[in-house]
Amino acid sequence: MAITIKSEREIELMRESCRLLATVHKELEEKIRPGMSTWDIDEMGEKLIRKLGCVPNFKNYNGYPASICVSVNEEVVHGIPSRKRILQEGDIVSLDAGLIYRGYHSDAARTHGVGKISPEARKLIDVTRESFFAGIKMARAGNHLHDISNAIDAYVRPFGYGIVRDLVGHGIGTHLHEDPQIPNFRQIMRGPKLRAGMTLAVEPMINMGRAGVEWMEDDWTVVTQDGSWSAHYENTILITDGEPEILTTY
Ligand code: MF3
Ligand code: CO
Repeated sequence: MAITIKSEREIELMRESCRLLATVHKELEEKIRPGMSTWDIDEMGEKLIRKLGCVPNFKNYNGYPASICVSVNEEVVHGIPSRKRILQEGDIVSLDAGLIYRGYHSDAARTHGVGKISPEARKLIDVTRESFFAGIKMARAGNHLHDISNAIDAYVRPFGYGIVRDLVGHGIGTHLHEDPQIPNFRQIMRGPKLRAGMTLAVEPMINMGRAGVEWMEDDWTVVTQDGSWSAHYENTILITDGEPEILTTY
């Protein structure tokens, strides 16, 4: 499928979808406490999304059973919320959420510390976030898609962290996952040319140890092979002729 270029009307709908999602993330971030279950986070997130008159796009997506992906410590992404998984002081928790507003999808993820966390965990979270910003410096019309991938890789490499290769970012719009796929590691080809009006979900997933990941028995939860902790940072962005617009920022 070709990469879609959104019209001005569609861009407005994307902006609103993403703005609403940002309010959900902000509320969830403020609510995180030790002692809370990952189920509690999903329940709060789904309620917030529905209160906005929107639909959680992850729910039932390829059979995913919840609205928010809640991934703790060595879980990379797609953690399934559980009443039994209780957040402890010192944990890191990645929240990945999305919604549909009048047919338009938004998608964003953040990793938060639970209470006081170690300096190592803080650094992993910070480097993951900054790798996103390094990547999107290259995200403008006329550049190529893999300029983003290469910039993320170049930023992360000196820290010695593992960049997850088995999962990628993606185009987004009337579908949660549209073309193109957006790798977070160095590419040999330049990839397609970026054009104003593309909307992309750029989402580095970075492991403190090695890059390898595996799927758990539940067929969803992705964990690091070496048990090291992992962070995730994602925004939906709009490509323009100048700086990209970060649509899900808060
Ligand atoms: N946010 C995820 C992504 O970027 C989607 C979660 S998969 C789902 O691809 F099944 F949980 F929806
Ligand atoms: Co995504």
